[in-house]
Order: sequence, then structure tokens, then C-alpha cells
Amino acid sequence: MKLRDIETKDEVLAILSETDPQAIEKIHKEAYDVKVENIGSKVYLRGLIELSNICIKNCLYCGIRKDNDHVHRYELSDKQVLEAAQFAWEAGYGSLVLQAGERISSEYVGKVTRLVREIKEISEGKLGISLSLGEQSRDVYREWFDAGAHRYLLRIESSNPELYSKIHPANNLHSWERRVQALKDLKEIGYQTGTGVMIGLPYQTLEDLADDLMFIKSMGIHMVGMGPYLTHSETPMGSLGITTTDLSLTLKMVAALRLLLPKINIAATTAMQVVDPEGREKAVLAGANIIMPNMTITEVRESYQIYENKPGIKDDAAISKTKLEMNLEKNGIEIGWGEWGDSRAFVRK
Ligand code: 5AD
Ligand code: SF4
Repeated sequence: MKLRDIETKDEVLAILSETDPQAIEKIHKEAYDVKVENIGSKVYLRGLIELSNICIKNCLYCGIRKDNDHVHRYELSDKQVLEAAQFAWEAGYGSLVLQAGERISSEYVGKVTRLVREIKEISEGKLGISLSLGEQSRDVYREWFDAGAHRYLLRIESSNPELYSKIHPANNLHSWERRVQALKDLKEIGYQTGTGVMIGLPYQTLEDLADDLMFIKSMGIHMVGMGPYLTHSETPMGSLGITTTDLSLTLKMVAALRLLLPKINIAATTAMQVVDPEGREKAVLAGANIIMPNMTITEVRESYQIYENKPGIKDDAAISKTKLEMNLEKNGIEIGWGEWGDSRAFVRK
């Protein structure tokens, strides 16, 4: 099997189809080596702030979808966000992510703009800011970019429009084409642009997953966050009773992506940690190089459950940090403290 310099869907598919444990170990090792050779061995951290769980969308898999009445909705105050940003700054995270459900009101847009500016101010411009706030108009993306955000994460969820339509309600708010356009807008504006998919979705085939990686390549994406699909019982898809119980396919996806795109940033995501307590560390050893420790205040963590069994919901930012450091150290993984850890696939315009 070809592992170096892979370029084609068939080569990706061969990796994803591998079932022999020894061959899989070799794939992970090769992906790790390719990472170290191209972008070094360090892991970069982005402190995650879950700004709000209010969302106008109804993705059929997500626990905080609009129609889930069991969720207590919250929005952090400016003060709470700035305190978290201060924590990130002092902890040496180098960079943070503001994540929330999707909202488009002008008041909300203005709040994000203000927060981005203030975070830049308190860190003397040094804290990198990524946003993960869903689909917005090109003007809004530009406003937030001009305020100082420089990375944006917007998962395509699946590169197969048909599969996309099975996991989202049929209406204009949930359009695959619109989402692809948003990714193009983000790139054009000058963001380091991130996307990703869920792995193990109902109806999803290995071929879909190979196509996902080819989509990421063809779009010229700079960073990727992927994770296993997990059930949430209060969702329409949750009632299908299909969930992901092992990490092997996710790790093969990470490794295949690293072999396909040696220089991009790849996140080891929280969903991996749900399936396996050391899932994120395993992903790092299979080619990932970014981890996003949760910094959200404990009081609201419980309300941001896009899937069930989210780890660390009783922890605070300091505990999340200590636990992560211990796990990384145990696995011999070095942290790039105080660095932005920009994607080496990104060329500033
Ligand atoms: N399982 C796994 N990932 C999920 N997401 C949302 N719901 C689930 C779920 N049930 C992911 C989506 C979304 C990101 C914020 O969380 O990929 O883009
Ligand atoms: Fe909203 Fe994102 Fe959940 Fe979809 S996945 S319902 S956009 S929070």
C-alpha cells in the first residue's frame, strides 16, 4: 500500500479499508512521521470558549438544535468571555476559539465584533482568535476578520450533498451549496479556513469518507477538525440508535488526511475523547497537531452537549488544562506554549 505522497481517492480508500492491525499501526506511524518531518512534533493549543448554545438551526444529529426544548439556553456575558480569554492568555495557550450555535441577529454580530476587539486588546494583539459561529454573510465574515479574527471553522459535515440532506432538515437554512459558498467566502476574505466531517454517520460509506478528504484537498483547506458521530437521545437521529463505539475509523481518517496533506493543521477533537479517554492523544500519534482544551465556565458546560457523555462537564478551565497536560506528558507529546501554531498550508495574502 502506498503511504507517502498519496494523491488519489483510491489511495485514500485503500488506507480507510485496511483491517489488519499491524498494517494500521504502520499507517499511524507513517502519518506521525510525515507530520514531524513537515510541521514538527509539537501540539498547539486553542482554548475553547462555548459562547452560547442558542441556535437557529435544527441539524438532525445535534443536541442543542433549536427544537430541543430540554436544553437550558445561555449566552455568556462579555465579562465572562473576557475572563476566559484572560485565562487563555495567562495559561500560554497562544490562541482561542469562540464557538456557538448559529445566530445572525445584528445585535449578536455586534457582540462578537466587540469581543474580538477586546480580546485582541487585553492580549496586546498576541492571542490568536478563531471563530466557529456557523454560516454568516460575507459582510459579517469580513467585519469579524477586520476586528481581528484570523481563523474560522465551519464543518462541511459531509462532502456528499445527498448524505448532507439526510442529516439536515430540508429547507434553505440547511443548504449544502450555501455551506460550500461560505467556505469559499471565508478563504477569499483571508481567513485560515477550517472544515471537517463527522465519521460513522448513518448511511455513510467508506467511499463518502474518502470523498470527504478529497473535498478538503480540493478546497485548499488549512485546518481540519473531524470526529466520530455520537448519538444524542433528544435528536431525530439519536432515535435511530446508531452510534460510534470505536475510534479505529477516525484514526485512519486522521492518518490518511495527514498523508494526503502533510502541512495542514489537524485537530484531535473532544468527540474522540468520548469514544476513548485517550482518543485525542492517539489522534496526535496518528498525525493530528492541534488540541482545543475547554475553557468554558463550569456553570454552563452541561448545557453545551451537542452529543451525550461529553467529558469534563464538571471541570473548570484549570482542571481541563491540568488533565490535558498530564495526558500529553504521559504520551511524550510536547506542547507549543504561547505560539499561534498557524497552519503551514496557509500563505498570507
Ligand atoms: N456527534 C458528533 N459530532 C457532532 N456535532 C454536532 N452534533 C454531533 C454529534 N451528535 C459536531 C458537528 C458540528 C460540531 C460543532 O459538532 O460536526 O459542526
Ligand atoms: Fe446548531 Fe451547530 Fe448544532 Fe447545527 S450542529 S444545530 S448549527 S449548534
